[in-house]
Amino acid sequence: MRVLVLTGAGVSAESGIPTFRGKDGYWRNLDPAKLATPEAFAQDPELVWQWYAERRERIRAAQPNAAHGAIAKLAQYAEEFLLLTQNVDDLHARAGLPNDKMVQIHGDIFVTRCSRCEFQDKGRGGSPKPPMSGRLRSIAPTSGNDLGVPRCAECGAPMRPGVVWFGEQLPWNEVQRVENFLDRGSCDVVIVAGTTATFGYIVDWALRASPDRDGDLIEVNPEETSLSRFATRLVREPAATALPRIVDELIGS
Ligand code: APR
Repeated sequence: MRVLVLTGAGVSAESGIPTFRGKDGYWRNLDPAKLATPEAFAQDPELVWQWYAERRERIRAAQPNAAHGAIAKLAQYAEEFLLLTQNVDDLHARAGLPNDKMVQIHGDIFVTRCSRCEFQDKGRGGSPKPPMSGRLRSIAPTSGNDLGVPRCAECGAPMRPGVVWFGEQLPWNEVQRVENFLDRGSCDVVIVAGTTATFGYIVDWALRASPDRDGDLIEVNPEETSLSRFATRLVREPAATALPRIVDELIGS
């Protein structure tokens, strides 16, 4: 069985991590232009760091849910498997998904990298966290207690979270890994869970993985998305409920 699984923020929602565009999603209350663009970082790196420090805290306090567990199980059974996630949290990895079977196409929130040179700090602890100033306290739900914006040990430039911001290129190596997987042939099963499929490349990759629809394209999402009309099966349920059942069906069959 050759399997591609595509996930988004909805898969981590039941672990207590907000989505972006769903109910109480981050972008419902916060302006992405002020927090998730290179321009925002250039203008106010402390504000950006405070938000990412908040998110890191929340993710550290969260646990993988049954959806993450089911995907890790499917990865063990499938002959060929790739998880393509837009999530920058580490819940798929903590559920046991090995790195060589996972592409984090929007980066990893726990990586800290230089905003100028190639220097990276992959320490899970990442950088020190700034104190929560009044500005963010007013727009962010919870509080943090760190210090300043970290500086690059190599060149002294500000360090930034290792994620892909709006307007930035996707990481070339990771794109290559997806392309190589897709070039090796179509998939018997494509599962798309917990994403609005806002970005064209997500829709393209999902459709390329199941070009002639003789495989299954299963969408797991309580709501309609831009991929729904291409799906061979729509599962309008929360991922932590639906995915364990779907995976057991696939493994059983
Ligand atoms: N189970 C399954 N799906 C869910 C659940 C759940 N428990 N809860 C919410 N969803 C669905 C919502 O219906 C919505 O379609 O998850 C989707 C979340 O969509 P977004 O918030 O748009 O998140 P995502 O698709 O991952 O966003 C893509 O946009 O903001 C950027 O870089 C960020 O990676 C992110 C990208």
